Amino acid sequence: MDKIIIFNASEIATPTGSKAKYGKEDMNDISIIKNGSIVIENGLIRDVGPTSSITKKYNLSKYNIIDAKDKAIVPGFVDAHTHFIFGGYREEEFFQRINGISYMEIMNNDGGIESTVKKTRNMTFKDLYELGFDRLNSMLAFGITTVEGKSGYGLDFHTETKQLKVMKKLDENHPVDIAATFLGAHAIPQEYKGKTNEYIDFMIEKLYPYIVRNKLSEFCDVFCEDGVFSIEESRRLLLEAKKLGFKLKVHADEISAFGGAELAASIGAISADHLLNVSEEGIREMVKNEVVSVLLPATAFTLDKPFANARKMIDSGCAIALGSDYNPGSCFSNSIPLIISLACIKMRMTPEEILTALTINGAAALDRETSIGSIEIGKKADMLILKYPSYKYLMYNTGINIVEKVIKNGEVTVS
Ligand code: NIG
Ligand code: FE
Repeated sequence: MDKIIIFNASEIATPTGSKAKYGKEDMNDISIIKNGSIVIENGLIRDVGPTSSITKKYNLSKYNIIDAKDKAIVPGFVDAHTHFIFGGYREEEFFQRINGISYMEIMNNDGGIESTVKKTRNMTFKDLYELGFDRLNSMLAFGITTVEGKSGYGLDFHTETKQLKVMKKLDENHPVDIAATFLGAHAIPQEYKGKTNEYIDFMIEKLYPYIVRNKLSEFCDVFCEDGVFSIEESRRLLLEAKKLGFKLKVHADEISAFGGAELAASIGAISADHLLNVSEEGIREMVKNEVVSVLLPATAFTLDKPFANARKMIDSGCAIALGSDYNPGSCFSNSIPLIISLACIKMRMTPEEILTALTINGAAALDRETSIGSIEIGKKADMLILKYPSYKYLMYNTGINIVEKVIKNGEVTVS
């Protein structure tokens, strides 16, 4: 593995520490080293500091030097919520929504998730793998070095496990790290219409044990929503998953104020995601129980719904992470520049809060905050060299990708 020194960056901007950042003070607390250099060995960060002190301590001739003059370095981005393994597309639904038909109406008329389920069931492992590989390349170019990916487009034994196995193999073969989540409770499949409890039993009795035995996913998630899985159904699914060692996530309060955030807090979930309609009580409970709030502004944008109230949540003490929700229905986008622009202009998050949300807090939503999410000694060497001299250009460049080089596990993967 290469020994690298990233030399003389105009600034190294990073949150610090190995914990989620809760509330305004911590989310805005960014370390900025001007004229900084970073020493990378064995895929890890060996040292970081002002260039003057790094040049004194290390023999530069022993390292590959990457000149970062006039460029800022930030940690690799973590996309903490996606559904990136799917077959087929739903382009017509996009235009139906633009013309006023709601996401739930489409879902209840055989469109929506169910239509992607049909297409994903018909995909071979190889085809899904190749599509996934290509999508990961696109993420990497945006600076995403770790991504969460959910199943949930199979809703039967074969296809749910196929999706998870595809992610496992991609994790082995592609530089981007993947945290896999089982989301069998994404919708009720045709075969079980009117028999929700039987479908829940099937997941708990058949799928959970198989997934655990074969180490196919670390997290379990439920689409907890009016007309999908109720609070009580979600609680049962998640508590049974917890017994087997899954960490928990909840699709919470996306379409209506349903109590998903409160549920997430009461069962010790690691994150509650979406939260467009979260209640005051939900916010308080997430703070009290240290649940990371994963916000997905590109989904609100494509559904043309009011954005989650990030300002209120952060000011109330929440730890916000930002994700894409990349999927073929509610948000067919993995664009980090779009997310950053929406978070900045529409949600009024500060540049420092956005950087924290895309790095250490994303890592915390995936229980990886001790190994990634900041540029500090001992963490994985996952970082981005930007085309401009400050992290603030990430927000100032509206909708433009300004990532010039991606360093993943200490190797230059995009340049
Ligand atoms: O997070 N809300 C549920 N699941 C996805 C959408 C999935 C789909 O429409 O295919 C979401 O938005
Ligand atoms: Fe989602």
